[in-house]
Amino acid sequence: MKYDFTTVLNRVGNDAIAVEFPTSPRGFQPEGTKDGYSVIPMWVADMNFMTAPSIVEAIQKRAAHASFGYFSPRPEYYDSIISWQKRRFGIDITKELIGYENGVLGALSSALTAFTEPGEKVFLHGPSYIGFLHTLSDMGRETSISELVRDENGISRMDYEDIEKHFVEDNIRFAILCSPHNPAGRVWERWELEKFVELCVKHNVTLFSDEIWCDLVLEGKHIPTNAVSEDARKITIAAYAPTKTFSLAGLVGSYHVIFNEELRKKVEKAASMTHYNGMNVLSQHALIGAYSKEGEEWLEELLEVLRGNVDFACNYLKEHCPAIKFDRPQGTYMLYLDCGDFLKEINMDIKSLLKYGWERGVIWQDGQPFGKADSIRVNLGLPLWQIQEAVKRLEKE
Ligand SMILES: Cc1ncc(COP(=O)(O)O)c(C=O)c1O
Repeated sequence: MKYDFTTVLNRVGNDAIAVEFPTSPRGFQPEGTKDGYSVIPMWVADMNFMTAPSIVEAIQKRAAHASFGYFSPRPEYYDSIISWQKRRFGIDITKELIGYENGVLGALSSALTAFTEPGEKVFLHGPSYIGFLHTLSDMGRETSISELVRDENGISRMDYEDIEKHFVEDNIRFAILCSPHNPAGRVWERWELEKFVELCVKHNVTLFSDEIWCDLVLEGKHIPTNAVSEDARKITIAAYAPTKTFSLAGLVGSYHVIFNEELRKKVEKAASMTHYNGMNVLSQHALIGAYSKEGEEWLEELLEVLRGNVDFACNYLKEHCPAIKFDRPQGTYMLYLDCGDFLKEINMDIKSLLKYGWERGVIWQDGQPFGKADSIRVNLGLPLWQIQEAVKRLEKE
């Protein structure tokens, strides 16, 4: 490999909640980590790899120019996005369709302001990324959740009948689609997206398509919701970012792609009224470095590493803990484990199992807030040797 996916930096004291847990009201405090165990971060969705050198170089080059005044995004910012979207997903977009967003959740907040009212029910699939649930509750919106259903091959699918029932019974005007899906790890097939879009169109539902995980596809192909049909382009607010792909969340920087001018203007107006939606100049350069030829080369190697990690983890679980049910991640680096039967088998409750890991420095995450009781969400975005070390620690005793 040309790039380094084995070295682990010392992130303690270096701005990383992954290893120094947040104490905010919605923070995360794993209980009882015993002395002598290093932290293996397997919870929050960022990776324990160094980012692509092309990003660091782009930031360093800009930082060396000692002037950081007000600015407008440069043409290379838009060109990088246009070229990336074409190269990676075969979709043609233009500068006018792109707008900066202070985070995908920032984009969601603006879209909710533009298209929904407080107290209104918003549709999403369950299990759900907790950021969606927090944003909705913070903004006083209610949820209307249709659970994904695991088919006979262990793949979580949308339940279209149930979705339509939710649309009708809850008077849905706005839906959130997570594509690829966190935490189920699904990369939606074209027919699945088509069917979902058809229902949205039929019921006049505006669709927020969160595609932040689109670059991290391990199996299959990511299809932008905007590429599904002309109808899809009329109702879709799509959100992207290099932050998940390249571990740049601390720099912030997402963007929308909205074909429908009316939708776009409404989202942009809601965002501009907050005066919070401003780009950071270093984040602009990070995106340019990420979406470069070298950034893409780094990403291809990362995907190979993640495929190896997923293989290792899934094979291990199948062999040693067959009672744990899960979707093999087709995308993302998240594994969402349904431990219900396993807990019965080992005669333990979920709190004790989580704690058992935390005590040994294996910092995995309670999956309940995502919607499923007795579940654990595990981040596989770290060197394989660390995953193997985590398994060893869990096996001990
Ligand atoms: C599906 C999904 N959307 C959005 C985000 C957060 O995006 P941002 O940091 O750009 O708000 C995450 C982070 O894990 C995510 O998994």
